[in-house]
Amino acid sequence: MKLDIERVVFIGRTFEEYCDMFQLCDEDIQNKKILDCPAGACSFTAVANAKGGDVTACDVVYQFDGEALYEKGLQDVIHTMEHMEKAKDNYIWNYFSSVEDLRKHRLEALQVCGTDMKHNQEKYVYATLPNLPFQDEEFDIVLSAHFLFMYGDRFDYKFHVDTITELLRVAKQEIRIFPCIDLKGERYEFLDELIGNLRNNGCEVEEVQVPYEFQKNGNTMLQIKKGC
Ligand SMILES: C[S@@+](CC[C@H](N)C(=O)[O-])C[C@H]1O[C@@H](n2cnc3c(N)ncnc32)[C@H](O)[C@@H]1O
Repeated sequence: MKLDIERVVFIGRTFEEYCDMFQLCDEDIQNKKILDCPAGACSFTAVANAKGGDVTACDVVYQFDGEALYEKGLQDVIHTMEHMEKAKDNYIWNYFSSVEDLRKHRLEALQVCGTDMKHNQEKYVYATLPNLPFQDEEFDIVLSAHFLFMYGDRFDYKFHVDTITELLRVAKQEIRIFPCIDLKGERYEFLDELIGNLRNNGCEVEEVQVPYEFQKNGNTMLQIKKGC
């Protein structure tokens, strides 16, 4: 699929945010082979690998040149912060003290990710969900943040099921999805149906409360352990 870079938003979270939203500890980073999907401009891959981890990032935007993505990311941080000033009340300002503090974190993630893409290009893999270019059970854990459930208005239930099936295919142990809400801050409307189907297929599924809550109500991650 050929995208227009102007239509892409290249923004991402920091390593620390990922550790909090996915309840990851040093031992996970050191010992587990992890896929971040879709990873956008997150610094998780760069920082985890610098700490001795084995993390791969994938995203549909990695079809573009890293330099062009970095430039687009700088514009996207500016636009996102303009929007944030207007939408402040939909967020909880504990983790970030202000819009300015948030801007610093988003820029840090972009800069760390942009630099790593130059030096460790093989860790940033182009992929268009619901298909992944990886072997069965290639990763111990697969993480997916701010994509599934959030855009329930754009991606239908079948897309969610197909994507989760594919994430499970490439995972040996489990997948973790954060958050469990849509852009309006409401629990994904088909979450219970999805959980029921996964359990019926033999998966162990838990909605886990986490210490990270920036978007109001966005403080749980879905942990799906294989068996299905
Ligand atoms: C809001 S960003 C989240 C990035 C990151 N996980 C985070 O938490 O900051 C959503 C990402 O999904 C990617 N994306 C959208 N559609 C996709 C698809 N069909 N396949 C793969 N990635 C996709 C976008 O390019 C974007 O980087």
